[in-house]
Amino acid sequence: MPSGGSGRDPGPVGAIRIAPSVLSADFGALAEQVGEVAASADWLHVDVMDGHFVPNLTLGPPVVASLRRHTPLFFDCHLMMTNPEKYLKDFAEAGADGCSVHVEIGHTAELITQMRELGLRAGLALNPDTPFEAVAPFLDRVDLVLCMTVFPGFGGQEFMAEVLDKVRQVRHVVDADALPVDIEVDGGIDVDTAPRAAAAGANVFVAGSAIFGHERPWEAADQIRASIHAGVG
Ligand code: DX5
Ligand code: ZN
Repeated sequence: MPSGGSGRDPGPVGAIRIAPSVLSADFGALAEQVGEVAASADWLHVDVMDGHFVPNLTLGPPVVASLRRHTPLFFDCHLMMTNPEKYLKDFAEAGADGCSVHVEIGHTAELITQMRELGLRAGLALNPDTPFEAVAPFLDRVDLVLCMTVFPGFGGQEFMAEVLDKVRQVRHVVDADALPVDIEVDGGIDVDTAPRAAAAGANVFVAGSAIFGHERPWEAADQIRASIHAGVG
């Protein structure tokens, strides 16, 4: 599978990865905040919101390009947008390594092809109430499935444990068919919920408020990783 045109290494498929979400960082000091978690993070999760797919606005390719100059971290861009096809090229050129588009917006096959052609790692995101069947036909041609454990749009929401059944379904097929697909959870992830998601089969853990809301964000990221390895929660 291509790992982006950049050569930045996403790491081995299926490995445990902690991906701090910049959504909960101080946008006025973004580079410094990313620097604080760099040693404890595997990926940086970049939440892009367009004010249409979700009722919130965040950032676009220029901010990704600015951040790119400050860190070699793998950029995992979560595009909460109704029309990502118009912006995927800009994100790739700005330094995105992987992009995830939501299956709810449709034309999924075309979007996967476009991401591949741009050298991006291709991800598909599902809202909490979107069933496994929506992603099943595409599992043999994506690098990542992002199961939202909150409704997208805002940080700091409560983890929805009912999504774990879907995580188990994705993990079952990925393992049964030996597919090289990472399974990511996003929303309400902390030291209590991360081990539960890991037990269900997730291996990439996005955390915003649990990391950047902590006085020492690097410690929070390390604690989430330790909680997964300890299997507590
Ligand atoms: C929510 C975003 C998440 C968000 C998670 O729409 O996709 O990545 O940053 O934030 P927490 O970890 O605070 O739930
Ligand atoms: Zn996200």
